[in-house]
Amino acid sequence: MDKPFSQACENNKQPILDRLSELFDQPGTILEIGSGTGQHAVHFAQHLPHLTWQPSDHPHNYRLCLAWIRDTYLTNINPPYPLDVASDDWAGLPATQGAYSANTAHIMSWKEVEAMFAGVAQTLPSDGLFCLYGPFSYSGRHTSDSNRRFNQSLRAQAAHMGIRDLEDLRRLGASTGLVLTQDFDLPANNRLLVWRKQ
Ligand SMILES: C[S@@+](CC[C@H](N)C(=O)[O-])C[C@H]1O[C@@H](n2cnc3c(N)ncnc32)[C@H](O)[C@@H]1O
Repeated sequence: MDKPFSQACENNKQPILDRLSELFDQPGTILEIGSGTGQHAVHFAQHLPHLTWQPSDHPHNYRLCLAWIRDTYLTNINPPYPLDVASDDWAGLPATQGAYSANTAHIMSWKEVEAMFAGVAQTLPSDGLFCLYGPFSYSGRHTSDSNRRFNQSLRAQAAHMGIRDLEDLRRLGASTGLVLTQDFDLPANNRLLVWRKQ
């Protein structure tokens, strides 16, 4: 089976893993939202054997990651789960101790981002972490010209897409019981934001 491929995932998977290995240091199941090609799921499951990785994606897209998962024969990665964050699909998920999502907040509409936070907050146990990777702005300011251009191209493609602002996400998290605790600078003007469930 031909495998879908993202060069960005190849570039960012190790810097993200370096952080996740410190953050998700206890055994448990980690829900990934919007797994895409599955390159992250496979890399993280391979290098974090104390975890069970639960890939998921929108029901229209969740099979995309199957080829990468099948090729690796890992025992700590579950079949991908069809999860539209803005639906009641959450009810069928296995118990999860942590959550992770990459490059989804600027693709989803703001209503979907709200639904993602609400779903994660309901799913996580107390002290569970939600790690969100991607480009973000700060008080309306982009962190690079390339991010500013990326935001313009997203908005031109679809009005509901766009780079999210840290303060909006911080407020949203707080309204669902998720407290923003860490903000890591990663390569290529991306960040890893970490929320802890109260
Ligand atoms: C830019 S891709 C990122 C894929 C992968 N995480 C990565 O970093 O390459 C955005 C992903 O968000 C997913 N997505 C968009 N809307 C969604 C929704 N409402 N519920 C769940 N996933 C969604 C898409 O299907 C897609 O896989």
